[in-house]
Amino acid sequence: MKILVVGSGGREHALVWKLYQSERVERIFVAPGNDGMAELAEIVNIKSNDIKGLADWAEENGIDLTVVGPEEPLVNGIVDEFESRGLRIFGPDKKAARIEGSKVFAKSILKKYNIPTAEFEVFTTFEEALAYLKQAEYPLVIKAEGLAAGKGVFIATDKEKACQAVEKIMEKRIFGDAGQRIVVEDFLEGEEVSVLALTDGKTIIPMVPAQDHKPVFDGDEGPNTGGMGAYSPVPFVGSDLQHEVYENILEPTVRALNKEGIKYKGILYAGLILTDSGPKVLEFNARFGDPETQVIIPRLKTDLVDLIDAVIDEKLEGKRLDWDDRAAVCVVLASGGYPFDYDTGYRIKGLEQLAQYDNFLIFHAGTKMEDGHFVTDGGRVMGITVLGNGLIDAINQVYQAVEDIYFEDMHYRTDIGYKAIVDDY
Ligand SMILES: Nc1ncnc2c1ncn2[C@@H]1O[C@H](COP(=O)(O)OP(=O)(O)O)[C@@H](O)[C@H]1O
Ligand SMILES: [Mg+2]
Repeated sequence: MKILVVGSGGREHALVWKLYQSERVERIFVAPGNDGMAELAEIVNIKSNDIKGLADWAEENGIDLTVVGPEEPLVNGIVDEFESRGLRIFGPDKKAARIEGSKVFAKSILKKYNIPTAEFEVFTTFEEALAYLKQAEYPLVIKAEGLAAGKGVFIATDKEKACQAVEKIMEKRIFGDAGQRIVVEDFLEGEEVSVLALTDGKTIIPMVPAQDHKPVFDGDEGPNTGGMGAYSPVPFVGSDLQHEVYENILEPTVRALNKEGIKYKGILYAGLILTDSGPKVLEFNARFGDPETQVIIPRLKTDLVDLIDAVIDEKLEGKRLDWDDRAAVCVVLASGGYPFDYDTGYRIKGLEQLAQYDNFLIFHAGTKMEDGHFVTDGGRVMGITVLGNGLIDAINQVYQAVEDIYFEDMHYRTDIGYKAIVDDY
């Protein structure tokens, strides 16, 4: 079969890598992809939010299955467009993807169905929000309702900071219409963990938990990024806790959406915080997470095409996921300056050395080929994933591997996975 993957980051490279291993797949296309994927997939020059362009191309080229990486096309209805043309596609439709596209919608579902999450208020006007912030207790978390590329959340330690954040979102509209409404919620304390599940709207099969590292510097210092690294398994999320997440969060959420007339099919990603009173939902995403996918997918032994088919055909019941017992750690190599301004076009050296080890994976994100060499072309340049015998081994190996790679201004965190292996890190 012919598969089209939509997106261009490390997540999509990991998906392409996995789909390539399926005996059922003959050709893989990726739109818009990046040059680092060109060994496995044919690059199609269409942007991931050009829904009509993608559907036209898939139709003309006899694509059997489309797999969507990023949230924006899902929230904007790529699944509805493809399905209306009889094209097979994996992901939630527009109504279902609101779980990510509107934090107000997600929180209202959580509240209505008593699913654990932070207490919150929703505001539609700047004045009402300010009146509330003046008498509130701090810290508080302020969130733009809509998609903001991971930049729409502010942790406010006092009233002044809270008012500034709300002004940016609602008055200055730095996220455009995504800031028409805001959620103001209680600050929760605890470790964060990502649990992604496959669901066909009835059956839910959770994948192995993973932990992302959002802040740009070691020790969770500095501004948030798209993610600087991840690891899986997560030792402090054992089978009891995984069961609790299934029983108290994933299953009730899919059931709640059903009651609201929404059949959720695809990946349901629960961003959780493990509080003293149990796991609570920070947010839902409607797709694979990045960089979590770069550690989860390498551990998945089951054929991904079979699983995707089961979701689309609503035959997930009875399926099982087999996992590699090894631990996976991914370190993201970023351009110096990211998540703010950075330069690109620097030659990347040392990738050849890594190619000789089969437990090392290089997932390209912001790279391109110039005169036969890879050069940097984005903030997050690539993820290096290593599978090891336990987390300590994987961490040691990944950092050894990273030392072989060089580009000007290269930046990465040196403590990915430490929360799992160092007490009180
Ligand atoms: N209620 C909360 N308490 C503490 N931290 C929070 C809370 N909500 C969000 N955060 C922090 O902000 C980050 C981003 O929030 P999230 O809801 O995941 O939005 P998005 O991923 O869309 O930016 C989280 O990963 C978490 O670190
Ligand atoms: Mg998040």
